[in-house]
Amino acid sequence: MGGGIAEIGVYFGRSYFLLKKITSPEDRVLGIDLFDIGEMSNGVSEQYRAFLENGHRLGLPVDEDLLVVGDSSELSPQDISSKVGKVRFFSVDGGHTLSNLEADSRLAKETIADHGVIVFDDTFNPAWPEVTVGVADFLRNNDEAFSAFCMTKYKTYVCRREFHDFYRAAILRAPHLRAFELAETHFLGSDAVRLHNPFGRRILYELMTRSGMSAISERAYRCH
Ligand SMILES: C[S@@+](CC[C@H](N)C(=O)[O-])C[C@H]1O[C@@H](n2cnc3c(N)ncnc32)[C@H](O)[C@@H]1O
Repeated sequence: MGGGIAEIGVYFGRSYFLLKKITSPEDRVLGIDLFDIGEMSNGVSEQYRAFLENGHRLGLPVDEDLLVVGDSSELSPQDISSKVGKVRFFSVDGGHTLSNLEADSRLAKETIADHGVIVFDDTFNPAWPEVTVGVADFLRNNDEAFSAFCMTKYKTYVCRREFHDFYRAAILRAPHLRAFELAETHFLGSDAVRLHNPFGRRILYELMTRSGMSAISERAYRCH
């Protein structure tokens, strides 16, 4: 399945580098951010420099031609598609106000490939209530075309209705997701799988990782 990858809201790259790592080197991963954190020198912020350094450190160098420095609400869909084509995975994690969500969900909607997935971060996070309102507005206003197929704590995954059952079934049978508890839920007119990460298992994983037992902790985490 073709298409580029895009993320609004890169910050220091936690999800951006995960996306880089799980895609192939030929994939085009676009990062959009204000990049305005920290002191500026030579027109570049500390955030931008630290982000590039993180890429070097991880062995996942950033293609600066695929970075957009600026306010996502000022971008047009062509600004995105001219760099990566239609987008097969769009992470929306930029500004967290309702107007940010309106602008960013519109960009995602207009650039997403037919088979593409949009993931909205911080949904149902009480720290950012307008994110949830923005995603609910998006789903209600685009009810004929888009639906939520998966929800985790603070992330909502959306695709075109034609692909809803396909992605939902893929999640239900994915071996890598067996570590999670799965439950059915319903969100604004569609059935979605809810993935729940039991707290006790997460703590065990963190403790084992921090004590240098990461190989075992990975197995312990996934094999429950
Ligand atoms: C929650 S952080 C993103 C976290 C990141 N995805 C991660 O995995 O660590 C939000 C980011 O969105 C950026 N941002 C906020 N408003 C924005 C806007 N209007 N346009 C572009 N980026 C924006 C901020 O600079 C910040 O880096």
